[in-house]
Amino acid sequence: MTGSVRFVLGGRVVEVRDADPTTTVLNWLRANGRPGSKEGCAEGDCGACTVVLGDLAPDGRLLYRAVNACILFLPMIDGKLLLTVEDLAGEDGDLHPVQAAMVDKHASQCGFCTPGFVMALFALHHQGRATDGSGLTDGAIHDALAGNLCRCTGYRPILDAARTMMAERAEDRFDRAEEGIATVLRSIRRDGPLTMTHGAASFHAPRSVDELATLFAAHPNATLVAGATDVGLWVTKQGRSLPTLIHLAQVRELRRIDEGADALEVGAAATYTDLLPVLERRIPELAALVTRIGAAQVRNSGTLGGNVANGSPIGDSMPALLALGASLVLNRSGVRRELPLDRFYHGYRKNDLKPGEFVERIRIPLPREGQRFATWKVSKRRDQDISAVCAAFLVTLDGEGQVAALRAGYGGMAATPARAPALEAALVGQPWTADAVAAAMPALDRDFRPMTDMRASDRYRALVAKNLLMRFLLHTTGGELPSLEAVHG
Ligand SMILES: Cc1cc2nc3c(=O)[nH]c(=O)nc-3n(C[C@H](O)[C@H](O)[C@H](O)COP(=O)(O)OP(=O)(O)OC[C@H]3O[C@@H](n4cnc5c(N)ncnc54)[C@H](O)[C@@H]3O)c2cc1C
Ligand code: FES
Ligand code: FES
Repeated sequence: MTGSVRFVLGGRVVEVRDADPTTTVLNWLRANGRPGSKEGCAEGDCGACTVVLGDLAPDGRLLYRAVNACILFLPMIDGKLLLTVEDLAGEDGDLHPVQAAMVDKHASQCGFCTPGFVMALFALHHQGRATDGSGLTDGAIHDALAGNLCRCTGYRPILDAARTMMAERAEDRFDRAEEGIATVLRSIRRDGPLTMTHGAASFHAPRSVDELATLFAAHPNATLVAGATDVGLWVTKQGRSLPTLIHLAQVRELRRIDEGADALEVGAAATYTDLLPVLERRIPELAALVTRIGAAQVRNSGTLGGNVANGSPIGDSMPALLALGASLVLNRSGVRRELPLDRFYHGYRKNDLKPGEFVERIRIPLPREGQRFATWKVSKRRDQDISAVCAAFLVTLDGEGQVAALRAGYGGMAATPARAPALEAALVGQPWTADAVAAAMPALDRDFRPMTDMRASDRYRALVAKNLLMRFLLHTTGGELPSLEAVHG
């Protein structure tokens, strides 16, 4: 056994040497005298296990982010501050303002979900201060709590507690201790890679893309893990053993997001939360879609690179990336190649990556003058749900209002996220009108033969895929909805 994970917990630096690298933070906490965080689902869905990670931003500010401890591997919190519900009350037993608001508003009954809600609200409390506390809306509160389920209190009292907490936004002892916390975090910061072994298992966290390339070439059978919002479930739900893990979140180049005049270059390990402000400025339609991926806890860990590489047929970023003409910069032993995303998938969860090759960056062209883009996800719930169908469109119109080019990306319709070539061809050269769109819709039946599963029937999927195209037309033209008969006969 070599190497140790260091993090700050309960006001001191904790060093763990003897844990299997796939031990989850939740299991470690509960086995080490901190049973406050609960296990509800062990798959990132219910929020009962929510803890908060504190980390230093590049500008030195302390950022607090809520994450699901049930699917987070312990070595992934190396160098961070870990806060659980046990940390919030002061030593004299004074409740934290978040806890006090929950009590005042009677926001807890059986209490099983409460630690998770409290921690999600604690993160919001600090996020509010980092931006503009006064500007936080109900929407921000809903977003912060969408990953937390409560079976018995009902949400109104919890929302009341959140509103009270935000309205009164009192300074807390973490605000006052910020400098001290930052100093401790700087003291455990690592310059070099972390390597930890436990029996035959090993965990590696390289710091640079060159270190990563060399390491992965030496261990081509290793499992890459970025946020573990997919990989975590392989362990907690499928009981898989992952003997060699290479963690990507500390690779600085993979966290970078570069904004060019024509394209965004997104490092594969940038989290959705880091990406969102950039998308809000540059591709707001995609930002809106990203707020529908999981919930805050998932977006704080999950990455665009993980979504693309995982290649799930219902992965939500890929239809948009396909429509926008995104490409992947792949790296194998330091040799790079660029591949359009529409040539990356070969079949159900099969992709073009060679052994030892990884996704380094995702290049996303920005919609140009004369192009319109939109993407929509259709699922049974707004938040924290899996798509039945997700669609994205990029249309280029010529001077006469005719379709010069159309790119359509769909998820939930085939074994992989895919473009719709028959539909695209059917619309090129046509006027961008409801009649032309209605006439082209049957082409989608040649592109896709969707399946029936518990989320949706094949007929529903086929119909929604067409309706989303019509929605895009209306969205771009402000036109009237044609009668259903005219559209579907
Ligand atoms: C509760 C919950 C809700 C979710 N909701 C949604 C949703 O609404 N929409 C959606 O699309 N997804 C959703 N997901 C799935 C998941 O969050 C996303 O797929 C996410 O983008 C995965 O990113 P990650 O960094 O966590 O990937 P990881 O779990 O770390 O990795 C996923 C896969 O990608 C590989 N990988 C990661 N990075 C690279 C790289 N740079 N190069 C090569 N391979 C790599 C890993 O080896 C693994 O095979 C949800 C997951 C959970 C737990
Ligand atoms: S236990 Fe349900 S999200 Fe972690
Ligand atoms: S108070 Fe019982 S689950 Fe929320």
